[in-house]
Amino acid sequence: LGLVHPKTDFSGKNILVTAGPTREALDPIRFLSNHSTGKMGYALAAAAQSRGADVHLVTGPTCLADPAGVKITKVVSALEMHDAVLKAYPQVDIVIKTAAVADYRPKEQAAQKIKKKAGELTLVLERNPDILWELGQAKKNQFLVGFAAETDNLIGYAQEKMREKNLDLVVANNVAEEGAGFGGTTNIVTMITRAGQIIKLPQMTKLETAHAILDQIRMLANYR
Ligand code: CTP
Ligand code: CA
Repeated sequence: LGLVHPKTDFSGKNILVTAGPTREALDPIRFLSNHSTGKMGYALAAAAQSRGADVHLVTGPTCLADPAGVKITKVVSALEMHDAVLKAYPQVDIVIKTAAVADYRPKEQAAQKIKKKAGELTLVLERNPDILWELGQAKKNQFLVGFAAETDNLIGYAQEKMREKNLDLVVANNVAEEGAGFGGTTNIVTMITRAGQIIKLPQMTKLETAHAILDQIRMLANYR
């Protein structure tokens, strides 16, 4: 009758997805951030939920509607995302780290608005923790998926991230490529497995890309 049966290939799996940018406050008015809109992460959360997973989405600020049936934790800064992710980590089977976490935050956070003066303003930034690196070090049975946003040497840098962060799968996208990256409705990603397989997906909607990534995770996680 053409009835759609829900797919349940992730039922019983706890999946943690991170999405969106983080914001690093300079003062009560201003922040440093990036162009992430959260679309890819939200698509992954919705796709995993529709396939039966228990999904926890930890997200930076976005304009997107909360995906139905998903547990959501809203954070602002990288440090807040760090705490939320580390807290959830022991209970999860799969982590998909789509978020574009700010690598640096302003060293000083002014309590009052910074007023303009003549001449230059110098900002001093300090490193944020690398959340995914920490997950890789503390890994027990979790299947860890990282994203790599690059503008050049896509595969090389993605492979380095896989090694350094002890990942099981890296999803690399060239954010400078037409039809890929920040904000658009489509993406073009290359998946790199721990065994060295390189799988380039065609341009697809972010939801289709999400399902293809989940297909790959299911295959690899089952055969570990
Ligand atoms: N990541 C993270 N915590 C950070 C920075 C990045 O968890 N402080 C995660 C991202 O969520 C992503 C992966 O690490 O899954 C790669 O992020 P990316 O910015 O591409 O790489 P970096 O390791 O930060 O290296 P660089 O920005 O210098 O290329
Ligand atoms: Ca980075």
